[in-house]
Amino acid sequence: MRVRRPIIAANWKLHKTIAEARQFVDDLQPQCAGLEELDVVLAAPFTALAVLHERLQTTPFYLAAQDVFWEAQGAYTGEISAPMLLDVGCTYVIIGHSERRQYFGETDDTVQKKVSAALQAGLRPIVCVGEALVQRQAGETFRVVAQQVERGLASCTGSDVVQIVLAYEPLWAIGTGLTATPAQAQEVHRHMRAVLGHLWGEEVANAIRIQYGGSVRPENIAALMAEEDIDGALVGGASLDVASFAQILLYGRSEPA
Ligand code: PGA
Repeated sequence: MRVRRPIIAANWKLHKTIAEARQFVDDLQPQCAGLEELDVVLAAPFTALAVLHERLQTTPFYLAAQDVFWEAQGAYTGEISAPMLLDVGCTYVIIGHSERRQYFGETDDTVQKKVSAALQAGLRPIVCVGEALVQRQAGETFRVVAQQVERGLASCTGSDVVQIVLAYEPLWAIGTGLTATPAQAQEVHRHMRAVLGHLWGEEVANAIRIQYGGSVRPENIAALMAEEDIDGALVGGASLDVASFAQILLYGRSEPA
């Protein structure tokens, strides 16, 4: 018996027009009939959110954005705020994805501000952490990930933390076809839970859901989900194709158990 409800999210990144997003949902829904034991989240580009929200009304899927700004409003050309995301129907928002850290100057400090703003507006953050290959090779994985968790969630109370989903995404596994082995992912997830327990107590640590992300595919999802501390997945490339995403939601099976 799982203690935590599994959560699998599609992260479409910079992909899909409005028409493609709509088609994806229409095709996905029939393939997921009877799939009640997990939360399914679609993180779409900003431009597709409004239409998807409308489309998702009759489905159990949750809508997510891929980023958010920390101020609610003001002179910040090009930014989108947490109240705006709530207004367009988002339940979740991805914060601190490694691509945002790498290409757009995201730091643990901006992650912390965004997490705070999202929670305050009533959005549930999916907070991404993960080590680079050189850090893993230097034996720094636990330290790096612990620091990202601690700093990114610095302003949170225990009741905030249980609203958050963490995603462990080793940078060397994202979009590379190299997946962390289930054992490698499990040991980092366990460590993250220990860090959370130290900071917010056992009960909070046991309640928070931790996804794995990095080259998740229909072929490896079952083994990852079999690990005790892996509560779901954040799926990039394999979430763009509806058949492969549906297979992942079914843990590689051909139909719901
Ligand atoms: P990937 O991306 O599944 O294509 O490796 C995962 C992510 O970046 O969230």
